Amino acid sequence: MAPFHSLEVLFAACELGVFDLLAEAPEPLGSAAVAARLGASARGTQLLLDACVSLKLLEAETRGGQALYENTELASTYLARSSPKSQHHMLLYLGRTTYLCWGHLAQAVREGKNQYLKAFGVPSEELFTAIYRSEGERLQFMRGLQAVWSVHGRRVMAAFDLSPFPVVCDLGGCAGALAKECVSLYPACHVTIFDIPEVVRTARKHFLFGEEEPISFREGDFFRDPLPEADLYILARVLHDWADDKCAQLLARIGHVCKPGGGVLVIESLLDADGRGPLTTQLYSLNMLTQTEGQERTPAQYCALLASAGFPDVQCKRTGGPYDAILARK
Ligand SMILES: C[S@@+](CC[C@H](N)C(=O)[O-])C[C@H]1O[C@@H](n2cnc3c(N)ncnc32)[C@H](O)[C@@H]1O
Repeated sequence: MAPFHSLEVLFAACELGVFDLLAEAPEPLGSAAVAARLGASARGTQLLLDACVSLKLLEAETRGGQALYENTELASTYLARSSPKSQHHMLLYLGRTTYLCWGHLAQAVREGKNQYLKAFGVPSEELFTAIYRSEGERLQFMRGLQAVWSVHGRRVMAAFDLSPFPVVCDLGGCAGALAKECVSLYPACHVTIFDIPEVVRTARKHFLFGEEEPISFREGDFFRDPLPEADLYILARVLHDWADDKCAQLLARIGHVCKPGGGVLVIESLLDADGRGPLTTQLYSLNMLTQTEGQERTPAQYCALLASAGFPDVQCKRTGGPYDAILARK
């Protein structure tokens, strides 16, 4: 297990741009050069770089009595912003937001609710008003979510053959990472991303969508507004935000508009049947406690929610990655 405070080292190095600087530098750099280019203190930089070496995020080689630092392969692939698989934005979100909510885990357990009020002084009655409490926070959240699908998106979208569903609606589809994955796997399909208006506006402004991509946006509230007609509704990391009654309400609305033969693709991290693992999913579930109104669930819990909404034919597939796929047909 990584020692206490290792995560802060990772967050600080991301925040300061250590991995970006070293990815762009044509050769390994000494700590004085890194400090000068980052506008940081010489002493602090030296300590941080050496801690990163012990965490295997950086490599150091001593030449002429001076240590020169470069990214490890892991840092080049997952931490440098320029990498297509970069988790830079997710790590910034984790460091600036998630970590602060986790600082109140005991209180979250006592109260059984998220900790935006304690961590940020923001009332949490309207969940996504608290999550999107500023434009910067909304953009950071969206970029972070998008980053995760750059690594795991293909695996979840390829878990089932979705070719029988040419018209797809990604409910809570955010900045469109899974929609892009879907049209790249199934070029004949069209995806409508349905999300709340400020998210759609931010997605259009900050995330690239090619003119030729068969992807469109629709603004709305999935608990209140009419849902687009589609053969398949995607709910990726949406149900885990909500308590059972809200999940049942949303699924019933989908069940109402979905035609026989249509389906719902739920993408979530599945708990074991007894809820005692996998550890990653249990930690996601505690994360949902500190940051949302929901939790992760077992296959049986998803099957029950889906069956009650008119989707009795449910298949669950573990992907081997952190997120799994559940396909339910009407
Ligand atoms: C945890 S995020 C998941 C985003 C995306 N599906 C993914 O996996 O990266 C939940 C998404 O649901 C959207 N959302 C929340 N409440 C909504 C509502 N009432 N109507 C429409 N979208 C909503 C959020 O804006 C956000 O994009």
